[in-house]
Amino acid sequence: MSKSALITGITGQDGSYLTELLLEKGYTVHGLVRRSSSFNTGRIDHLYEDPHDEGRSLVLHHADLGDGVALVNLLRDLRPDEVYNLGAQSHVRVSFDSPLYTGDVTGMGTVRLLEAIRASGIDTRIYQASSSEMFGAAPPPQNEATPFHPRSPYGCAKVFGYWSTVNYREAYGLFAVNGILFNHESPRRGETFVTRKITRAVARIRAGLQRHLYLGNLDAVRDWGYAPEYVEAMWLMLQADAPDDYVVATGVATSVRDFLQEAFRAGGLDWEEHVRFDPKYERPSEVDALIGDAAKAQDRLGWKPRVMWPELARLMVEADISALDAELSG
Ligand code: NAP
Ligand code: GDD
Repeated sequence: MSKSALITGITGQDGSYLTELLLEKGYTVHGLVRRSSSFNTGRIDHLYEDPHDEGRSLVLHHADLGDGVALVNLLRDLRPDEVYNLGAQSHVRVSFDSPLYTGDVTGMGTVRLLEAIRASGIDTRIYQASSSEMFGAAPPPQNEATPFHPRSPYGCAKVFGYWSTVNYREAYGLFAVNGILFNHESPRRGETFVTRKITRAVARIRAGLQRHLYLGNLDAVRDWGYAPEYVEAMWLMLQADAPDDYVVATGVATSVRDFLQEAFRAGGLDWEEHVRFDPKYERPSEVDALIGDAAKAQDRLGWKPRVMWPELARLMVEADISALDAELSG
């Protein structure tokens, strides 16, 4: 019998790569999709299968992390071997504008899912998408032993989700793990996160569609890795003999300014001619530096990053230029 998995957040960056990985491994993948007034499945459309085909291996279900009853019903029906909780209001700046909504979906949503597993009485393993944003003001390098000091409503919600996951493991013996993932990017990254905002702007400026790019704080330092490799780490965590929590990172520090310079250089442009400051992109409290130490994941899971900065910036620029060329010529 092949394994089955339920993914919340299947329509997001990580959800799409994880779906590809699990389908390659022979899983039946169930995805939780929230209802939207327009199609929101662009990142997984290439994996779509006819719903009338009974043998299909990718099945989408309408539900929402805000609806605990729907989660219980879904888990009871599907009884998946593995659950990946990737669904979240995941934008840090937006979380300052919508702190209650972020707390509800990103924080309480995790408890709703954990409680749905407990209430439905199924035997499953769960991965919680925890975040380096939980470290916030804690000085780098950060690892599993670093105390959390979140600096945003999103970070606070993720800390709640992290400890709830640990608590369900300790209280009920659930195979529940936290992956504390540092920033990871790809050509499928949401367009309002800084890396993709930059690489998309490079393509558009080259094509004459835009002249300026407005950004906030260029001094922030992040540890940027490649998303398809990070979903491999998620899967490895659920295959381990015992549940545990792991940092996943490259260990390489890069500032927003460094990323900007490299991306514009890759597109044959001078960033200083095009980039302007807009305070609306600053955060009320910033996370200055996230640099991860993933030694535990390397030792115990055998996970290691392969695509590193600055190759990541270049591949994202190339992908945005090709996508725009195809759009303009088609
Ligand atoms: P993303 O692209 O923003 O995707 C978020 C997903 O959550 C989307 O599928 C979204 O659906 C879904 N979602 C939002 N609200 C929901 C709700 N109320 N109910 C159900 N689903 C909902 O995020 P990502 O970059 O793939 O990240 C995946 C997870 O890892 C998130 O939990 C994020 O917080 C966490 N994380 C990300 C990083 C990173 O660097 N990427 C690092 C650490 C942790 P729509 O498509 O309909 O919007
Ligand atoms: N988004 C954005 N837009 N960020 C900007 C901008 C801008 O115009 N200008 C500067 N920045 C700075 C932000 O202030 C931040 O310091 C840095 O660029 C990275 O911002 P994001 O790309 O939005 O990512 P993030 O680090 O806040 O959050 C991402 O990584 C977390 C893991 O550490 C998200 O993917 C979170 O969901 C994830 O948990």
